Amino acid sequence: MSLQDKAVQEFKRHFDAPPAFVVRAPGRVNLIGEHTDYNDGFVLPMAIDHAVWIALRPRGGRRVVAHSLDLDQEVAFGLDNITDENTGWGEYLKGVAWALQEDGHTLQGWEGVVTGDVPIGAGLSSSAALEMATARAFASASDLPWDPATMAQLGQRAENEWVGVSCGIMDQMISAAGVDGHALLIDCRSLETQAVPLPPDTAVVVLDTVTRRGLVDSAYNERRAQCEAAARFFGVPALRDVSVDQFQSQSEGLDDLIQRRARHVVTEDARTLEATEAMRRGDAAELGRLMNASHVSLRDDFEVSSDELNAMVECAQQHEACYGARMTGAGFGGCAVALVRDEASQAFAEKVTACYHSATVIEPHVYICTATNGAEVVQR
Ligand code: GLA
Repeated sequence: MSLQDKAVQEFKRHFDAPPAFVVRAPGRVNLIGEHTDYNDGFVLPMAIDHAVWIALRPRGGRRVVAHSLDLDQEVAFGLDNITDENTGWGEYLKGVAWALQEDGHTLQGWEGVVTGDVPIGAGLSSSAALEMATARAFASASDLPWDPATMAQLGQRAENEWVGVSCGIMDQMISAAGVDGHALLIDCRSLETQAVPLPPDTAVVVLDTVTRRGLVDSAYNERRAQCEAAARFFGVPALRDVSVDQFQSQSEGLDDLIQRRARHVVTEDARTLEATEAMRRGDAAELGRLMNASHVSLRDDFEVSSDELNAMVECAQQHEACYGARMTGAGFGGCAVALVRDEASQAFAEKVTACYHSATVIEPHVYICTATNGAEVVQR
């Protein structure tokens, strides 16, 4: 049974009536453009066919009641005085309601069921998917206009200020604005987006190392601070404003560590724009080459990879059907992403699974992904 059917069926069981709306919002994988979003730079993620689904109906009051089918837990809260009670997944719902109200929207209560298949904690943005599905649910119940960039910013605000996790805008933007069959070039300063088609006859394969590191948040915040220090050195608002040429001619005197961090960001922005051009030409080989170069830069200059991610990327790159592979997301564990010849994707998945297992004794999770739309109402 599809998750959409499951959400409808379970809604009926819980509330004795059909839902008024079914909404979905996807997780994401980033093809290239890593640790560039909070430097006002460019990213090139795609929304994947793993999503959070909510079936709901307005309640005609100011109360929200949501049942998680996957966790078998209910969360209920009033919209007049939302308080942080550490309810886990429920805080994402409350945080989004809080951010929408802070932005001046008048919200209606609703009741609904929530389910999904974005692996939690794998680095595929299950939180952004939950935030954007919640925003879509409130927009449907309260008849709010849906502007993807505005909603993404409110989702990011919920994550930063309510949940308390520092993140850039990429994950919420792609979950809100993804386009079927395409990756999305996002200018993280203007929030302009351009849909970029995937090269013909290729598949995007997500390779989960099944390793999760603590300290990711503190390492992430440290990288952000280092990037800000580099921007101050160059006298610009953000590293987005430094070209590769300028970096090469003006970085003398910059502390060695900060210099390497900045080199990653500056070259990664350039690679992301080159990757966009390669995709428009249908040039899978060039896109793959840029992904490989991104991995080296993240591993050696930005230092956010891990032994397991490196092992996974090497296993992927060795396969003859692979155009390129890299770690993806914040790093220190989580997933790698590979671009492979479509007709060989199943064989590739099997080979890389065996290779990674023999290198690490860990059984990876592999997802051959398609690019989907961003947050949408699928049934009303
Ligand atoms: C995490 C953050 C994003 C982005 C990536 C790194 O996924 O949530 O905003 O910074 O790390 O590219």
